[in-house]
Amino acid sequence: MRRLLSLALLLAICLEAGAQLNVTTLRTSGLENPQGIDPAGVNLSWILETDKRATFQQAYELTLKKGGRTVWRSGKVESDNSVRVPVGVPLEYASPYTWTVRVWDNHGQVSKPVTASFSTALSPDAWKASWIGTDTGDRKICPSPVYFRKTFRPSGNIKRAVAYVTSRGIYEFSINGSRVGADYFTPGWTTYQKTIQYQAYDVTAPLKRGTSLIEALVCPGWYGSGMGWGAPKDRQRYGSDLALLMQIEIEYAGGRKETLVTGPDWQMSRKGPVADATFYDGETIDLTAAYSWEPATVLPSTAASLVPSIAEPVRIRQVINPMRSFVTPKGEKVLDFGQNLVGWEKVRIKGRKGQVVKVSHAEVLDKEGNFYTKNMRAAKVTSTFVLSGGTDVFEPSQTFYGFRYLKVDGLEGELNPSDFCAVVADSGFETVGRFESSNPLINQLQSNIFWGFRGNFVDIPTDCPQRDERLGWTGDAEIFFRTATFNGNVDNFFRKWLRSLREEQNERGGIPAVIPDIFFGTNVDHACGWADCATIVPWQHYMAYGDVTVLRDQYRSMKAWVDFMLRSSDDYLLNTLNQPFGDWLFWSQDNDRSGRSAVTSKALCAQCFMAGSVEIVAKSAAILGYKDDAAFYDSELTKIKKAFMDEYVTPNGLVSSDTQTAYVLALYFGMLPEHLRQQAAGRLAANVKEYGNHITTGFLGTPHICEVLSEYGYSDVAYKLLLQETCPSWIYPVKLGATTIWERWNSINPDGSIVGGMNSFNHYSYGSIGDWLYRYAVGIRETSPGFRTFEVDPHPGGGFKYMEASTRTPYGKIRVRWEADGNVIRSIVVSIPAGTTASVHCPDGEVRVLGSGNYGFGVELE
Ligand code: BGC
Repeated sequence: MRRLLSLALLLAICLEAGAQLNVTTLRTSGLENPQGIDPAGVNLSWILETDKRATFQQAYELTLKKGGRTVWRSGKVESDNSVRVPVGVPLEYASPYTWTVRVWDNHGQVSKPVTASFSTALSPDAWKASWIGTDTGDRKICPSPVYFRKTFRPSGNIKRAVAYVTSRGIYEFSINGSRVGADYFTPGWTTYQKTIQYQAYDVTAPLKRGTSLIEALVCPGWYGSGMGWGAPKDRQRYGSDLALLMQIEIEYAGGRKETLVTGPDWQMSRKGPVADATFYDGETIDLTAAYSWEPATVLPSTAASLVPSIAEPVRIRQVINPMRSFVTPKGEKVLDFGQNLVGWEKVRIKGRKGQVVKVSHAEVLDKEGNFYTKNMRAAKVTSTFVLSGGTDVFEPSQTFYGFRYLKVDGLEGELNPSDFCAVVADSGFETVGRFESSNPLINQLQSNIFWGFRGNFVDIPTDCPQRDERLGWTGDAEIFFRTATFNGNVDNFFRKWLRSLREEQNERGGIPAVIPDIFFGTNVDHACGWADCATIVPWQHYMAYGDVTVLRDQYRSMKAWVDFMLRSSDDYLLNTLNQPFGDWLFWSQDNDRSGRSAVTSKALCAQCFMAGSVEIVAKSAAILGYKDDAAFYDSELTKIKKAFMDEYVTPNGLVSSDTQTAYVLALYFGMLPEHLRQQAAGRLAANVKEYGNHITTGFLGTPHICEVLSEYGYSDVAYKLLLQETCPSWIYPVKLGATTIWERWNSINPDGSIVGGMNSFNHYSYGSIGDWLYRYAVGIRETSPGFRTFEVDPHPGGGFKYMEASTRTPYGKIRVRWEADGNVIRSIVVSIPAGTTASVHCPDGEVRVLGSGNYGFGVELE
């Protein structure tokens, strides 16, 4: 047996050489140099970087300029705050600003000033543009894409021109043939009946050049495609119209102003190359089509408020070349990109005029190696290209697909892989996390989690990106939220989505199961674990990003949801609501003669989530200073837990259902009294063993099973689950070549057959194990909001020789790497951002409280 020989600190890497205080990562209202943001509540963030240890910001100084003129100076403010510091002066609409920050630290260092820029949105009163477009008059009929154009001649030397643009549908626009901006699917998906976002683009440079042709295309997108599963005619649409709204504010040298707006003096065409484009069925591009211009029709305005965008738009992230092409046993010509991804293809084709080439999309091949699309259900997911006769380039970017394979029909001659590439697109927020270990299977699992994460964060968090669904399922977002925050900066992304959640919440406090609610209030509004995202996501957002405004903005909604549950419960027992999902997609064996299918009572799940939500509201109330609420919900929580004990737990601590999920939820939500907890964890560990070290949990138990095991000293069992290679497990799909996370534990059976119907190969929910990898295996856990203080408490095991993870918090990058012999950590290297303090569990068993800097600790082992 190994024995720790030396408890002394052997290694203390101190990289103070050349220490300097730098300010980086300037963000305005959470975004990098944003355009057209709401001038109300603008806030500024930055990150301190220095190699000098134990550095804190002691003071900052902010200067704000508008068009080169200083409009605000904060003066030297003694404060350690660097996250979302409010601007101390009212800002004007439609104006460009720059701001500069410099900081002082506790060592007497001063940073160089650093500058960022932003511009503000149009005043709500300043909108003069009219909505122009087409209307089919029937919501069951999908509107066709519509083109718009207008020639503009500047009447002087343009100093600044900004286009404020939105649409009912999705838009893109160009000036003199050049696409403006790099954003896709704008204005983004919101509760269109209430809120439509708009974007701002600086168009000074293209308009300055003289007479310009402004062209726009509006396609159905989420507004008009028809979302929701089922036959297309049954799909839900926001409207039967597609419309554009654009206002360009021009300022000439000398101060004269001009406003160019959409209206009847524009032209529109219902015909053009993009003949058809919906999210589920795909896009048709006909390069033989001629436009048919007519005066634009002015449509009625909308009851929705126009609001400036608050989150990063969808952007192209990377382009991938196919790794091979082949012919399937059925004779299909197929390209393989080696990665299940989300985006669209870009294709170069030379052929006859009028020749039709079709490109279909699939995530997997069937058992025989043929192209498999049954899991797309009713979504046709096909691009149709009509060739011009020359060499054409097609890029169907008015839709998106989830695919690894492309099937090409209609080509004459060979399929040439170099004529194809895949364009990967997702919400354009930054990637902030990285995880790596000595086990290649787990590295592939992390890669699968990451691809599933990015591919399902396409303006809203979706369940899946490929079939006739792609909806903002609340449960999936709730389950995956913490994993997402380790891997990406989803701060503003979720602010936007939570605004929709507030808007969709109904009068009784219920939360529709998909946000935005494409079912318009007709779907379930009380699913435990789904609706609880109303409390869990804001709370976890606060813990991840340290900004109390999200809690404040959501508080009424959080409270309304728990009040609804409390009202609905019978003497604190929430078994009255018919729960639709429960531990959704838990592992159940067919022909279960051994009685081992893991069925957990849905009411039991609901009771645990009710407690969790009420606890969050109590904690939030205390933080926000609502003392009476805090006391009230605290006392309600005690009663909810008592009702749970009375109903579901025997005096000896057997939790009814006796499943993994039952113990996981009871322990995670603190439902059991202290004296029954350890034995419950023991029952959980025994249950895992009984299933041959397999997981049997569904959506509700899976995110927390390893966490609960680790909390109660069973990390060895957690590692057995993590490393299990047979179904059900996380590594089983990896062994079968998965490159994203599957919806079901057995999306593909061991014999290669594919489970029919609802079966996505890119569903991030079970990827929530990613949270445990960062938080427990590597050991990075916040102990106060925004990781201002955090713990580094690795849980080695599973034969891992090393693990390493980094994540960028609001204060900067945390990095941890440990190396181990068996279950014993030999060394640990930690980077702690300036302004934060970490409690590091060192290999010698000591917990050291350390200020910022880079540290390494090691022990010698016999
Ligand atoms: C979705 C899930 C979702 C569920 C609700 C499915 O169709 O794909 O991920 O949470 O329905 O049960």
